[in-house]
Formats: sequence, C-alpha cells, structure tokens
Amino acid sequence: MDEEVLFQITRGQLESGLRGVPVGYCVTSLVHPDKGLFYVDHPIRELAFWEPERVIFLLYHGKEGSARELEDFSTELKQRAPLHPGAVEQIRQLPKFGKPMDLFSTALLISAMFEEKGDYREDCLNLIAKIPQIAAIVINHHAGWGEGKPSQPELGYMENFAQMLNRPQGSNENLTYVLKLFNILHYDHGGGNLSVFVGKAVASGLEGMYGSISAAMNALAGPRHGWANQGGLSLVKEVEQRMGDEPQLPQLKEYIQEKVDRRELIYGFGHAVLRVEDPRAAIFYDYAEKHFGDKGLVKAALLLRQVVPEVLKNNPHINDPYANVDAVSGTVLTAAGFPYPEYYTVLFGMSRIVGISIQIVYERLEARGGKGTPLVRPKYLFHHRRTAMR
Ligand code: MLT
Repeated sequence: MDEEVLFQITRGQLESGLRGVPVGYCVTSLVHPDKGLFYVDHPIRELAFWEPERVIFLLYHGKEGSARELEDFSTELKQRAPLHPGAVEQIRQLPKFGKPMDLFSTALLISAMFEEKGDYREDCLNLIAKIPQIAAIVINHHAGWGEGKPSQPELGYMENFAQMLNRPQGSNENLTYVLKLFNILHYDHGGGNLSVFVGKAVASGLEGMYGSISAAMNALAGPRHGWANQGGLSLVKEVEQRMGDEPQLPQLKEYIQEKVDRRELIYGFGHAVLRVEDPRAAIFYDYAEKHFGDKGLVKAALLLRQVVPEVLKNNPHINDPYANVDAVSGTVLTAAGFPYPEYYTVLFGMSRIVGISIQIVYERLEARGGKGTPLVRPKYLFHHRRTAMR
C-alpha cells in the first residue's frame, strides 16, 4: 500500500508551484475542485453559521463535540485567552508606520517570548485562544485607535474580538456577526495553501508553534494569497466609482476585458484548486444580497460575479474563471461597518491560524504513528541559466 504510485512528476510540472503534486495528508479539511471546501466531513455551507468554538472543536478533534464537550472546550479557550501583559506592552511599542501584517507576524514572535510552552499541542490551543486579543491589539495600535477595551473572553470568541476593536464607529451587531462568519469561513483551506504549507515546513525544522505561525503569516501577506481580499475590494470599488449605481453589462465586460488584455490580475477570481465558484464566496454573496443589497458596493460586487467569469472563460489558459472568497469578503466587511481594507489580511490571518496550528500539531505529533513528518527537504534539479543574472 505504501509503495502505491500516486503521482509521477513530468518536467512540465517543475517550476509550477507544485500544482496538484501530493506531498502529505491533511486531517482538518479538503478542497474539492467541484464541490469546494469541507471541514472534516462537513461542507462549509453546513457549518458557516455555527458558533466559532463548535467549528474549532470539529477541526481540532476531527469530530463534532457533544453539548458537554463543547461547553468544556469553550471554557478552556476562555481560560487560555489572556495574553501576558508583557507581550501586550511590547506589541504596543511596534512602529505604526509598518505594514499591518509585518506588525502581526512580529506580534506573534513577541508573544512567543512571553507565552511559548514548547509543546505543540499546548501552544496550538493557547494561540487559538489568544489570537483575537493579539489581532485586536495590532489593529488598534496600528490604526491609532487607542488601547481599546480590555479582553473579555467570557463574551464569546468573536464577540470579544469585536468589542476589543476600538473602531471610531463604535459597536454594531451586524458587524460582530459578519466578523464571526468571516472568521469561520477562513479557518482552513486544505493542506497545500501557501500559508499552511510554509507553517508546516518551518515547523518540520522543529521551530516552535509561534515562530512557525509567524512565518506562515508572512506567506499569507503577499498579493497572490491573503492580500488578495484587499485587491478584491479595490476592484469592486473601482467598478462602483467608474460605473455608478446602475452599470451597463456590455461596458463592464469591456472594462474587464481590457484589464485582462493588459495582463492585470483580476483579484478575487480564479483558484489553484477550485473549478467552480468558491462556496465561501457564494455564502458571502447571499449574505450581502440579503442584508446590504441596496448598497452600490454590493451591487457592483454582484455584477462582477456575473461578468468576470464570462470574460475569463474566453481565455483558454484560465482553468478557473469563477469568484473565490476574496472577490466579496471585503465588500461584506465594508458594508457591515468595517471599511478598513488594510486590516483585512490580518483578519484572514487570525482566522487561518486555527487551521495552520492544528495541521502543525498533526504533522509534528501524530503523523507516521506519532513519529511526525521529517524535515521538509525537496529536490531541485541543477540546470544552467539560459539568461545571465542582471
Ligand atoms: C485560501 O483560502 O487559502 C485560498 O483560497 C488559497 C488556497 O487555497 O490556495
């Protein structure tokens, strides 16, 4: 069985970002090209409206928790939540002119100095419990919103995060709900997305949980990965501003076609694995249409959902022309009262840390009968450059 040939590498697959090359097992989630995301065995649509603690239990234990187990698990997360005051103080010394994701990944390293136990399982649960506070401190500090309210874990995982954010607009029930939905939809996306892959690779050298997660957050920061939700919102805003409330479909089509001809990235469309519309995007589109359907921004997002795939389908090099979650998540956050795109990747990161840290626990402590996976060390073939280094 172990000798079964699963995949053979062709030369054409070299330098292709390891697309489709199996390299291990993922015990938390699956991205099916035609069906989208599953957490364990549950399609994302089924659990998008669960409480965060219930979804985290499912990912951590690989099974649904009973009422009693969920109560104990929620209590445990609350007890683990408070961040060491020394870490809070040091994070607030970071330069505000830095990029939010740079502050966020540095905040994780600072937290390691005060909090790391050196046990992947303990550090995983602690980090999941503490990450709402770490993210809120980073955002409040960077935005110049002051210190914000103290952490109150007893309010609930995302309720606490929402109340810690010291946004100028004050509290908004809709926003708390949208932050919760955003959080759940971004916990995990299979084993091979760049941030989890990097996190697991760094942990394979036996770096601790916090350092591995900090590296994963640097991987998430780039425009092709977690920053794409900011790019997606920029496109929606561009369309709203240029075309007004009632844009004409043929003009919009032409506008997108011109972008494609200029080889511009159309943020929020296409995916390395998916060959249908991302169900996470569909959940957000439905939510936006139902709750904020009268807003120009939402109308623009819904039009792009229709028009962009029609344009991209004409390009034979594009395997997936459909919307992914980044096409609409920023629109929903803005419509719900969080119009601060520079923090959207931090929101993505604080959510994705749940899946990455659990996947690291599996690879370090459970894989290969408990031995863990070895140091990541793929092979590169030597060849002479065809062009000289400039
Ligand atoms: C994600 O959620 O991580 C993105 O969809 C990227 C990916 O899966 O490769």
